[in-house]
Amino acid sequence: MFSFSGCWRPELLVLLLLAVAVRESWQTEEKSCDLVGEKDKESEKEVALLERLRPLFDKSFESTVGQGSDTYSYTFRICREAGNHSSGAGLVQINRNNGKETVVGRINETHIFNGSNWIMLIYKGGDEYDNHCGKEQRRAVVMISCNRHTLADNFNPVSEERGKVHDCFYLFEMDSSLACSAEASHLSVGAVLLVIFASLVAVYIMGGFLYQRLVVGAKGMEQFPHLAFWQDLGNLVADGCDFVCRSKPRNVPAAYRGVGDDQLGEESEERDDHLLPM
Ligand SMILES: *[C@@H]1O[C@H](CO)[C@@H](O)[C@H](O)[C@H]1NC(C)=O
Repeated sequence: MFSFSGCWRPELLVLLLLAVAVRESWQTEEKSCDLVGEKDKESEKEVALLERLRPLFDKSFESTVGQGSDTYSYTFRICREAGNHSSGAGLVQINRNNGKETVVGRINETHIFNGSNWIMLIYKGGDEYDNHCGKEQRRAVVMISCNRHTLADNFNPVSEERGKVHDCFYLFEMDSSLACSAEASHLSVGAVLLVIFASLVAVYIMGGFLYQRLVVGAKGMEQFPHLAFWQDLGNLVADGCDFVCRSKPRNVPAAYRGVGDDQLGEESEERDDHLLPM
């Protein structure tokens, strides 16, 4: 009666469980950084950009600024919780004097966008200001600039804007090769060599022309650098090609031979001879 019951072999069950497990783990990982927007309607661009930053998810960046009682350290993580308390923070400020931790931005309110050589990551939903900025929630703005020499480095606070009535923010900067545009980095070694070779040829020809013209005082075709050598090379290549490529001998019967340079000289001389009065 149940003809498909034969299909439920243990292996299939294991495979199915595995697939579900992988999907679940992938999903919980994705949830770590919530792009603000309706559920399941996150911007594809933002999702793709976060995916590009995935190599940095395991890293934690730290920077300390200020002196004496005004010393603060900042801890920043991409799509992972920063700080000791599980407050959902993506960027925290720690007062080095009293150890007080302030959440500057949370990963469940992530915004991200980019340009040709930078990525802007914004965490909103931080702890509220005590008496600045209309007591709104803090927000962290991290400018990630293209730097091909490092995966991620130089995380530093730039400034804190809190003199406004609202829309205040903490500004940070960081370097990463992941912020570099994909096209430029795909320039292959071959292409680079080709560009270098073309440049060298251009320099050779330009330099040669100038040298021949200004130093040697050559005119016309003579200005071409190493003219004799290149002409010899051209003839050599032509001969080689002639030898390799031509299937029939080059010397066709004399009757069909065209007027070549060598014969032209002889014949004209002969004709001249005939013209002389005998
Ligand atoms: C983000 O997380 C915080 C604390 O966990 C919570 O209070 C807040 O409502 C969350 N924000 C959103 C947009 O879900």
